[in-house]
Amino acid sequence: MSTRNARQLSAGMVGGGIGADIGKTHRFGMRMDDRYSLDAGVFGRDREQSAGVAASLGVASERTYSSYHEMAKAEATREDGIDVAIVATPNDSHFEVAKAFLERGINVVCEKPLTQGSATARELVELAAANDAILAVPHCYSAYPMVREAARMVSDGRLGALTFVDVEHASGWAATPLELTGHKQASWRTDPDIAGFPSVVGDLGTHGYHLARYITGLEVEEVSAQLHTFVPGRKVFDNATVALKLTDEVPGRLWASMAATGHNHGLRIRIFGDQGSLEWQHEDPHHLAFQDLEGTTTISTHGLASLSEDSARLTRVGLGHPEGFLEAFGNFYRDLADELEARRDARPSTIRELSFPTGIDGLIGVQFIEAVAASHAADAAWVVPASVADRAAEVAAADAGLREAGSN
Ligand SMILES: NC(=O)c1ccc[n+]([C@@H]2O[C@H](COP(=O)([O-])OP(=O)(O)OC[C@H]3O[C@@H](n4cnc5c(N)ncnc54)[C@H](O)[C@@H]3O)[C@@H](O)[C@H]2O)c1
Repeated sequence: MSTRNARQLSAGMVGGGIGADIGKTHRFGMRMDDRYSLDAGVFGRDREQSAGVAASLGVASERTYSSYHEMAKAEATREDGIDVAIVATPNDSHFEVAKAFLERGINVVCEKPLTQGSATARELVELAAANDAILAVPHCYSAYPMVREAARMVSDGRLGALTFVDVEHASGWAATPLELTGHKQASWRTDPDIAGFPSVVGDLGTHGYHLARYITGLEVEEVSAQLHTFVPGRKVFDNATVALKLTDEVPGRLWASMAATGHNHGLRIRIFGDQGSLEWQHEDPHHLAFQDLEGTTTISTHGLASLSEDSARLTRVGLGHPEGFLEAFGNFYRDLADELEARRDARPSTIRELSFPTGIDGLIGVQFIEAVAASHAADAAWVVPASVADRAAEVAAADAGLREAGSN
């Protein structure tokens, strides 16, 4: 990624250092279509290690910074400064890091959960809008061809009226006290100051939540949640069961776990309608199962000529060739590149109906975490996520405005 051609977008990364998990996946995703050049970064808190990573990635030493502050300031003043900053640090720094770039008008990809609270998440969304910058959140599961196919089938009415949504992101990766072994990712995910007490909800629950919203097009109107800690001595909740009331009273349930013993990644969604149902699993991402009223199962495979354009445009190699997580990240970055380039070249927006998740999705995810925590604290009482309350307030305000206009 070191020698940039004039058409490429320039990218910088904060995080993704030695031993880090997701930063490298972002880099793989960015490389896939050659649309980005990684030109700047702070690859970890340790200066020497960061410099080593930068050198191995071909990032020039003068653009390897000692902090994100320094990076945002310097990149904003360079003529060839970065077009987009990738924030791949643990949750407690997302807000400050993303803010430093957005307030300078630099586009941001910020990992989930967007921030540690809805006030700061909203601030980022507003900052992005005020500075005409894109804020994208990599809920990468929405960039699988068969997930887009599922969303298209639902919006085309293939399932009829939706009756039930069942999503789980129940992994067993931390079913033992990994945090006591010095495991990097478990250490901060079990620290309430970094990951919050409902840690698993922010970490895995927000992915399931976004997937359910993305495929169904419905919003969650109320939640009733129970949080548990399965691993003795753990300082955060590692299991969440959440009953959902979605738009038009459609019921649903979400299970998020990092202690679902024996499960690998554990992301699965089933959607039921009065004419049929769908099932997609992340560990078998090429297939989408549709069942009709008689129980006949039809399995669609990624790459089939009969699939929708939404799905076909994300299939890279073709029928029979496995594609997965890295390609989904590549798809996220390709959709994002389309939009960033359109803005750069003053062309019309490329954002389509089924596009990449933005800061609004990140904000709704954070509001979900808060609603789950509030419900758990109130013995699983039904709680309205702030996103719904906000919408209700907006409608009430618009209504009041209309009444006032009408009375004049
Ligand atoms: N979208 C996804 O599918 C997905 C998957 C995994 C993780 N994540 C999210 O990505 C984020 C990172 O998770 P991870 O598992 O890769 O964490 P990690 O601990 O493996 O890596 C974090 C990296 O950030 C660096 N870092 C921390 N603070 C920094 C700072 N102030 N400046 C520069 N670098 C800093 C660390 O040194 C490390 O290199 C989390 O918010 C997590 O929720 C998302």
